[in-house]
Amino acid sequence: MTWNNSLTQLLYIDYPIVQAPMLGVSTPEMAAAASNAGALGSLAIGGLSPETAQQLIRKVKALTNKPFAVNLFAHPIPDQFSIDEFSQMNTFLEKLCKENGVPYTPLTIENVRFYSYKDQLDILLEENTGIISFTFGILTDEEIRLLKSKGTILIATVTSVKEARLVAATDIDIITIQGIEAGGHRGTFLEHDHLPMVGLLPLLSQVRDVTNKPLLAAGGIYNKAGIDAILALGAHGVQIGSLFLASTESAAIESYKDAIQQSVAEDSILTQSFSGRWARGLPNLYTQAVDSSGISIPPYPVQNSLTAAIRELARKTNNSQFLSLWAGQNASKAPRRTTSEIIRQLLEGN
Ligand SMILES: Cc1cc2nc3c(=O)[nH]c(=O)nc-3n(C[C@H](O)[C@H](O)[C@H](O)COP(=O)(O)O)c2cc1C
Repeated sequence: MTWNNSLTQLLYIDYPIVQAPMLGVSTPEMAAAASNAGALGSLAIGGLSPETAQQLIRKVKALTNKPFAVNLFAHPIPDQFSIDEFSQMNTFLEKLCKENGVPYTPLTIENVRFYSYKDQLDILLEENTGIISFTFGILTDEEIRLLKSKGTILIATVTSVKEARLVAATDIDIITIQGIEAGGHRGTFLEHDHLPMVGLLPLLSQVRDVTNKPLLAAGGIYNKAGIDAILALGAHGVQIGSLFLASTESAAIESYKDAIQQSVAEDSILTQSFSGRWARGLPNLYTQAVDSSGISIPPYPVQNSLTAAIRELARKTNNSQFLSLWAGQNASKAPRRTTSEIIRQLLEGN
């Protein structure tokens, strides 16, 4: 079978498969391995400082000469947020952690620092990153013009037909359709409070009707049969995340890998508890405590900052009960194999 199509030609890749950016899980090693295997590797830098982002980009460049995507969080940073909500959550988290023997130092507002993709634009230009994907928003017309003038290929994420129409009217090259099955954060940027819950198949078919741009389909894809079906429905390629969660190159801790491999599709939930944005993953002690408390959750990225130390400590202590276990509805299929073996398996169908 020939995998060559307008998307593979545009991205200079052999196969229409994108290893999804997965902040906290995907690594420069994973991105490079995916690109070296003929797919498109992705490096997630959403919310990272420009210095860290630059180091990671240089690390991927040292490991591959092939194209790879750099992925941004394109959301606005709130100029103000409710101090009461912030304080209440701080107190709630302190109590929850104490009850469970987890150290927690309450965060002071002065210590909160948000990095926006706008802080990262200079280093992206300096590093001349050829492919940029983004989620949680769309770049401004001026930013699109600037990056396109440098020859950058731009990939936006949408979760509804309404969002797809907006992106279709811009110069963005490729649209990633994220179905509700997908692991990790919802890329939703319109009507965030009323979360679109559309499955990948209906969303893909409907978006195909409104634009001729190349489409990447994301959510629950884990085998060749799924890729064949998605391409038959009009996508030009697939973006796959959860299947790489337990890979050799994944930064997921062992207890996270165990939890996803032992899970079933019905376990998966949507929660705002870790970051303030809706995201799909497995429930644990932390999500159950926050979600059942009725406490008001500060918006992204405020809540994300409040839980950063908890997640970091959980990672260091292999504690899956206080870590965000982002995973899609088919995450249990993730094998403990190398990234390149997983891509080979996807192509060969065995
Ligand atoms: C652990 C994890 C982290 C993710 N982080 C990001 C991210 O940083 N940027 C992004 O655009 N998408 C992110 N996603 C969403 C993926 O791009 C993609 O939509 C999703 O993985 C596809 O569904 P699947 O996991 O069922 O394959 C993440 C997904 C997971 C599982």
